[in-house]
Amino acid sequence: MKKVFGVLGDPIAHSISPLMHNAAFEALGMDCTYHAFRVEKKNLGDAIKGAKAMGFGGINLTVPLKEAATGLIESDHLAANIGAINTIDFKDGIRGYNTDGIGAQKTLEETGVEIEGKNVLILGAGGAARAIAFTFTEAGAKVNIANRTPERAMNLAAEIPRVNGFGLEVLDRCLEDTDILINTTTVGMDPNVDETIVTADQMHTGLTVFDIVYNPLKTKLLQEAEAAGATPVTGIMMLVYQGAEAFRIWTGVNPPVDVMKKAAMEALKL
Ligand code: ATR
Repeated sequence: MKKVFGVLGDPIAHSISPLMHNAAFEALGMDCTYHAFRVEKKNLGDAIKGAKAMGFGGINLTVPLKEAATGLIESDHLAANIGAINTIDFKDGIRGYNTDGIGAQKTLEETGVEIEGKNVLILGAGGAARAIAFTFTEAGAKVNIANRTPERAMNLAAEIPRVNGFGLEVLDRCLEDTDILINTTTVGMDPNVDETIVTADQMHTGLTVFDIVYNPLKTKLLQEAEAAGATPVTGIMMLVYQGAEAFRIWTGVNPPVDVMKKAAMEALKL
């Protein structure tokens, strides 16, 4: 009988996770299937227990369920620190993980950029910034957070050891010493494709610029990075790697990342 996996969210119709994971299962000849389930927040606890009772292999959680899950189930210490769970494994009871920040880390490592010891500047202070800030600090990076609303950056930074938060007005000074710039804001996302928080004149050639916006693939920020001779990294791989790491947690099998990327690109018509 096929092993069942799934993603829970509300709304969920536009999730590309089923296409990514089913492509991976098929490529590896695994007798598994992955579906999307619309689950209201108030029913999350029942849904998780139901999935476990029905012998599911594992589930992903997406908006708006990631934060709610931390109050319901056990998680590893990274997910507990982030305060959000995007992956649940049923092998040994019910255990939550967060692979969002790891997705960003793997994306950079794939392009030859190591995190440890690097000065990382995160733009934005929402959920994605939070996952990346905790994960990268744990991986040995020195993280700064800059946000349009300075208080949000300072509040997030105060939760993480050795992290500083500030407003966008100190960007110029901070960028000089930055090795990796990561945009976690929605600035530059379709249809606002001409918008960017940082421009080429603020960058240097040793800088890696990673934009988690993948629609368009080459955002205005990444065009500016190219113009400055910095190294641009597109966000689509973060989406792929967060899924790939969930796949690894559930199955113990090396995820076929290229297959998952192709499925994601096709699904998103990129
Ligand atoms: P997430 O999806 O990561 O949870 P969020 O909580 O919606 O994101 O946060 C979006 C981020 O983009 C915020 O940091 C937001 O800045 P504010 O905290 O000041 O609102 C940032 N953001 C959105 N539009 C922006 C803009 N036009 N300029 C600068 N930052 C912007």
